[in-house]
Amino acid sequence: MVYAYEEKTGSVSRWSSETRYRILLELNNAIVTCKSREDLFTALSKELQRHFLYDRLCIMLYDDKLHTITYFAAADGIQPSGIVARKSRPLADGAIARMAIQSKQPVIFDDLTRYTDLSSVGELVKAGLKSTMVFPMIVRDQLLGTIHFSFRSAPDGVTELTELLQALSLQIAIAVENMMAYTSLKNSNQHLLEEKQYLLTHGREYQSTDFFFASSQMNRIMEIVDQVAATDETILITGETGTGKDFLSRLIHDRSERRDNLFVKTNCPGLTSSLFESELFGHAKGAFTGADRKRLGRFELADGGTIFLDEVGDLPLGLQAKLLQVLQDRRIERVGESTSTEVDTRIIAATNKNLIESVRAGQFRQDLFYRLETVTINVPPLRERLDDIPLLINNINASESERMNRPAPVYTDDALDFLRRYNWPGNVRELKNMVKRLIILNPGSLINESEIKRTFPVTMASIDQLEDFATRDQAERDHILQALAATGGVVGGKHGAARLLGIPRSTLQYRMKKLQIEPSEQFSVKPH
Ligand SMILES: Nc1ncnc2c1ncn2[C@@H]1O[C@H](COP(=O)(O)OP(=O)(O)O)[C@@H](O)[C@H]1O
Ligand SMILES: [Mg+2]
Repeated sequence: MVYAYEEKTGSVSRWSSETRYRILLELNNAIVTCKSREDLFTALSKELQRHFLYDRLCIMLYDDKLHTITYFAAADGIQPSGIVARKSRPLADGAIARMAIQSKQPVIFDDLTRYTDLSSVGELVKAGLKSTMVFPMIVRDQLLGTIHFSFRSAPDGVTELTELLQALSLQIAIAVENMMAYTSLKNSNQHLLEEKQYLLTHGREYQSTDFFFASSQMNRIMEIVDQVAATDETILITGETGTGKDFLSRLIHDRSERRDNLFVKTNCPGLTSSLFESELFGHAKGAFTGADRKRLGRFELADGGTIFLDEVGDLPLGLQAKLLQVLQDRRIERVGESTSTEVDTRIIAATNKNLIESVRAGQFRQDLFYRLETVTINVPPLRERLDDIPLLINNINASESERMNRPAPVYTDDALDFLRRYNWPGNVRELKNMVKRLIILNPGSLINESEIKRTFPVTMASIDQLEDFATRDQAERDHILQALAATGGVVGGKHGAARLLGIPRSTLQYRMKKLQIEPSEQFSVKPH
């Protein structure tokens, strides 16, 4: 035992066994209904203060892995300066708490002024405290931390007081442990609620068996998918819009050990600078105006799972630096919190941009590019994997008909052959939209070449004309119409035809006017 006190002689027992029993009972009654650490601490302190007349009470939690101590709640009574509540600090060699933690015994100092060389004593003495009694909190052989009672002048009957406070410490330790379990349950409950909310708003029909391919290029890609799925490697998926980048990233997640945790998709261009950090990393309650409660970021939601950063090439430069930092440290810092949290999240990024060019143009950080591109999967456009076209049409036709609860149309061989010659600027997305539209318009019927031309006069019917190359204006007109059809008539924005064609929206609008292209019915099928 670490005792540093001189017993005053002649003290008589102040606490009969009835009194002790009553104190215990009152203490328990006072704390059973507490719902937060602060509540519990206040209730404890109020009860104990009535009997023991100390000048300061504090409860410290000990983290045996990090070897740090943290206040369970703000201390009650005299506040020595230089002590910041709620912040973890390393357990200094000369700390009184350390003695109680190492010996697992009470540590009593009846005259602190003689021990000011110990690290934590100086501030106590300066604050006018003369003696202190520290008790370890031990529950089921686990050391939770310490309870500190401090006094302006040494109390009477220290031996008896020590014995009684030691008995009470066990009760306090149990209450503290219960509260920690309660708050941690409450936290994981909140985590679950947020996960659920996320799934409800982002849940999409996705079935891994709905991914179809036949071409040698896609077979090779699927081999790579299987190889990388098993690792935690960061993956970059590149390819034109509609080639299946989203789908592939989900497949990788599904085939990895992470499949039982969340796949969290984040659309990078949709993140404004000011929201980016709190969206990805979460924020503390009160971190900024409107942050009325703590919020988990997407990286934390995807803990144990995968985060998918779509259109990563469109991330503003300032935010690229922050992303790079997470990739390097695997730790995130919630907005408004000073400590960082480790996250175990697999990162998959996708882009339809040529990132090497973006790096050259100074729009994408080179160091971030190198971090991302270790494993790159480049998905070829549909026109470069013709073998996939008939298979995709037949399978998507079957599965979408079933989903829509309509009899599937049947494609003739010459229709399929015809569609292989089309250049599919919108890739599989465009193909899927075409198939869906034909299911709606021709349920259960035969689909031949002329039916397709009749349904899609501006895009498909022009294939042959395009081959003849009529005039330059006509070719351009057709090209624009194809792009418009692929985007369902949307001109500007992320999914717009201007972007598909790689020209500014205003230029496209100007050309459309010149070539007398009017937004029409043809484009009414919205892209998925
Ligand atoms: N190989 C495929 N088999 C079935 N559907 C596919 C395939 N590739 C893409 N799709 C579908 O095409 C649409 C566009 O795919 P998506 O993954 O969103 O493309 P991207 O992210 O490259 O723009 C989605 O509806 C997707 O389900
Ligand atoms: Mg996508």
